[in-house]
Amino acid sequence: METQETIIVTGAAGYIGSHTLIELLQEQGYKVLAIDNYSNSSAQTYQRIKQITLATFEIKELDLCDYIALQKETNHLSTIHAIIHFAAYKSVPESVKNPLAYYHNNINSLNNVLRLCEERQIKQFIFSSSCSVYGNTHQLPVTEQTPVQKAESPYGHTKQIGEEMVAAFANANPWFSAVVLRYFNPVGAHHSGLIGELPLNRPNNLVPIITQTALGKNQLTVFGNDYSTRDGSCIRDYIHVSDIAKAHLLAIHYLSKQRHKTAVSLFNLGTGHGVSVLEAINAFEKVSGQKLTYTIGPRRLGDVEAIYANNTWAQHELGWVPKNTIEDMMRSAWKWQQTLESE
Ligand code: UD1
Repeated sequence: METQETIIVTGAAGYIGSHTLIELLQEQGYKVLAIDNYSNSSAQTYQRIKQITLATFEIKELDLCDYIALQKETNHLSTIHAIIHFAAYKSVPESVKNPLAYYHNNINSLNNVLRLCEERQIKQFIFSSSCSVYGNTHQLPVTEQTPVQKAESPYGHTKQIGEEMVAAFANANPWFSAVVLRYFNPVGAHHSGLIGELPLNRPNNLVPIITQTALGKNQLTVFGNDYSTRDGSCIRDYIHVSDIAKAHLLAIHYLSKQRHKTAVSLFNLGTGHGVSVLEAINAFEKVSGQKLTYTIGPRRLGDVEAIYANNTWAQHELGWVPKNTIEDMMRSAWKWQQTLESE
């Protein structure tokens, strides 16, 4: 890749965006434009990334729903090599409560980013999708061929629509190719302890709630112990955020080296192992030495019972091998929580 080419990262100050930025900057040859509107992130994260990587990159604050602003803030870039599009709302329960905000934000921003690809002839695109597109599937583990079911939440539905938009755009434009990454449950934090998940509001995801509960700052409720699983709690495929981040670099190489066989390549990003909520709690207790107090509550609306990945295709095609265990994930999440406490 020529050094003057830029990769645009949207949602770059967010959880997965920030970890991917580190990997991109540590790999030489990428100029990066980081875009975020800080709706669920903080610009301070960029200082941490600079501290970790000692690299420089360009930063723009903008709302991707505003196409004129997106055009204006990217006009100066001579060549745009690729866009990695993370920016989106991502809470399942919040999307059930406020669906229109999710449809508006996730669909309009994607539409505008694809419009920019069309206008500027940006040939490579990476889209953050989610295992929630599989809905309540009974075919486990899920492969990329597992049929997509009705989404259990508006959040999952925006990801289904997003995948279809990317595919339709790729079909209409033969010069364009995309990788769609279906993340399972990204958790944990960068090994430096300097960046991690930073929800501005009360977190909805399990792992930040666990680490906050250990400090007495939150109260953990296990949402249901009457599922048909080995211990009655839901099963998920937790995957370290840095393993997820590395897959984006491999996806860029995959597209650049023209290894892809179809205009849109789909990959599951999970470890391939299902972990129940109670097992996740045990793993945290083991690595932190903290005893967690929690209660068992009713099932949460929008939750699927069990889902975990078959990741063979990502291993085979991208050469992606996730390295971190559930204990590594909990250890790094706990280290990050302690960084937050010391500030
Ligand atoms: C969902 C998506 C995932 C997406 C993520 C983004 C599905 C299957 N997965 O993850 O692809 O990346 O949203 O936010 O839709 N739990 C509790 N108590 C709590 C919080 C959570 O018991 O206080 C349980 C949940 O019921 C669930 C598990 O922990 O079984 C994980 O929940 P969470 O971390 O919120 O992620 P998902 O909803 O699985």
